[in-house]
Amino acid sequence: MSLLKGRSLIEPDDFSLNEMESLFKLAEIIEKDEKYLRDSCRGRLLASLFFEPSTRTRLSFEAAMLRLGGNCLGFAESGSSSASKGESLADTIRMASSYADTIVMRSPKEGSALLASRYSSVPVINAGDGGHHHPTQTLTDLLSIKLLLGNIENITVGFCGDLKFGRTVHSLAKALARYKAIRMIFISPKELILPDYIKNNLQKQNVDFIENENLEKSMPELDVLYMTRVQRERFFNEDDYIRLKDTYVLNSDKMSAGKEKLIVLHPLPRVNEIAIEIDSDPRAAYFKQAKYGMYIRMALLASILGVNI
Ligand code: NCD
Repeated sequence: MSLLKGRSLIEPDDFSLNEMESLFKLAEIIEKDEKYLRDSCRGRLLASLFFEPSTRTRLSFEAAMLRLGGNCLGFAESGSSSASKGESLADTIRMASSYADTIVMRSPKEGSALLASRYSSVPVINAGDGGHHHPTQTLTDLLSIKLLLGNIENITVGFCGDLKFGRTVHSLAKALARYKAIRMIFISPKELILPDYIKNNLQKQNVDFIENENLEKSMPELDVLYMTRVQRERFFNEDDYIRLKDTYVLNSDKMSAGKEKLIVLHPLPRVNEIAIEIDSDPRAAYFKQAKYGMYIRMALLASILGVNI
């Protein structure tokens, strides 16, 4: 695993498929034995710099680092950092990288993690850069598919909701394009379709995909349904958000058309797009998925920090 030592993770395909496979294997071991790698990062520091709200990503990174025996420092909102005084990202990163062994950061600006990696003397992990990418959510999503369906090949994946601003969708689609026989169905209102730059890449890679507006119609075909929330904070006007926010609500009626082995994933937070009644359906996998996120982040941190595994 020393291959990943000192590496940054900015986009979902920064690591090779083999490198990702090693991370999944490691996460699977940790999932079975939570004590595995305990204390392997003693004395190491993670700076977690969140300029945007987060529950799962930040807490699972911090939990991962603490479980590995390391420590965390950082901030959970830009208002409590010197960014609020006008400090540039470059300067913030220069400082954080002189205090910590690795940095995980989230920012509302597309491209910020890449920029940060140019000023950092330690690896930078992108925990979401605006409506662009979110590669550690993708590792979480791929691990979930692997653990719950057995492999990441030969499946039909439906993405539903805000495909325009949803960075987790952009990253997962880009990552899945590298696996064999993946079919993708992008289900969204016209206003929230997948950006052209993502579609163009899928076309270049000859990925089999279609776009439609109808969740019910696609349900019977899906092996994975990836639901997403409408990203209110990225809308230019509130009226558009209100008009579009409840376009899709997954309820028991719609689930009844799904395969028996379907898995429903969601990066969370959920707002209204999955009815609470679905939580008890055995096909609802989003809370498990969130827990897998901690295991894969343990595997990622240990690997980037060069732990001998
Ligand atoms: C997502 C994000 O921040 O992009 N959440 C997450 O990290 N699990 C999804 C979202 O906010 O809708």
